[in-house]
Amino acid sequence: MTGRAAGPRLLQTVSEMRRLRREYRASGARVGLVATMGFLHEGHLSLVDRARGLADRVVLSIFVNPAQFGPDEDYEEYPRDLERDLTRAAERGVDAVFAPSVEEIYPEPQSTWVEPGELGARLCGLRRPGHFRGVLTVVAKLFGIVDPDVSVFGRKDFQQSVLVRRMVKELGFGVRIETGSIVRDPDGVALSSRNAYVSPSEREAARSLSVALRRARREFAAGTASAAALERLARETIEGAGAALEYAQVVSPDDLAPVRVAGRESVCAVAARVGQTRLIDNARLAGPSSLDLVESEA
Ligand code: PAJ
Repeated sequence: MTGRAAGPRLLQTVSEMRRLRREYRASGARVGLVATMGFLHEGHLSLVDRARGLADRVVLSIFVNPAQFGPDEDYEEYPRDLERDLTRAAERGVDAVFAPSVEEIYPEPQSTWVEPGELGARLCGLRRPGHFRGVLTVVAKLFGIVDPDVSVFGRKDFQQSVLVRRMVKELGFGVRIETGSIVRDPDGVALSSRNAYVSPSEREAARSLSVALRRARREFAAGTASAAALERLARETIEGAGAALEYAQVVSPDDLAPVRVAGRESVCAVAARVGQTRLIDNARLAGPSSLDLVESEA
C-alpha cells in the first residue's frame, strides 16, 4: 500500500482497496464513498464534506470509466490530474483515494452489465445510448470493491442519482445513497470537469442553462404550470444564447417521466452543447435551490 505521510492513502489496485476495507471494518468504522472521474472541483468536494459527516472514513474513487463513454465522446481528452486531485482530497480530509487503472477494473472483456431499462433511455440516455449501463456497471463494481455504508452522489447528474438509487433498491445493495446539492460558480454555471473545455467567449452560452432554469422557476412561481410552456421558455433561453439544445424537459423526480402539468416537486432538466462541450443542469421548479445563490440577474 502506498501510504502518504500526510493526506489520503492512495490505493491503485482492487486487492489493496479490499485490504484497507477489511482494516476499516475491523476497527468498526463506517465507510463513506464518493465516486468521481477526478479533476476535482468544489462540486465533488462538497460531496466529500457530506460523506465526512455521515461516515468515519471517507473513500474517494477516481476512475475515468471507459464503459460510459460513447465511441465519439471525450474519453481520451477527459481532463486528468491525479497529483492535484490528491492535494485537494488531502485538504478536505479524505482518508483514502482509490484510483485504479482500467486493467484493474476491466481485467477482461466485460460480459456482465447492469442495464438501467427504460429510465436509462430518457433524457441523457437518448443521446448517449449505453451511457447509463456503463455508469451503473462501474458503480456496482465500486460498491462491490469498497463496500461502503453510505455513498454520496451529486444532484447535478440528476438522472444518474435516480438510476443509482433504483439499482441499489432493486439489486439489494446494503448501501445508503445520499444526494448533495449542485455547486455553482457565482455566475450560475454548475461546476463540471468539462467546464475546462469552455472558452471565455462560450461562457455566456454555458451560463444560459442556469438562466433557463431560473426563468422556468420564476415562471412557475408566477403561475405557469404547463410543462410545454416552461420547456419552451427554457429552450428559447438556451438557443437564444447560441447553445445547441439537446433537451429541456419537465419530469417527475421519481421516474423521470415527462409531465404535462408541472408540480412543486417537478424537475426541469436541460442539456445543450456549447461548442464541442456537452453541458447538463437541472433544478426543482419550487422550493430552495442552489440557483437562489446566483448573484447576477437572469
Ligand atoms: P463525475 O462527473 O466526476 O462526478 C462525480 C460526482 O460528483 C457525481 O455524483 C456528480 O453528480 C457530482 N458532481 C459533479 N458536479 C457537481 C456539482 N457541480 N455539484 C454537486 N455535485 C457534482 O458522475 C460521475 O463522475 C461518474 O458517472 C461516476 C458516478 C463516477 C461513475 O463513473
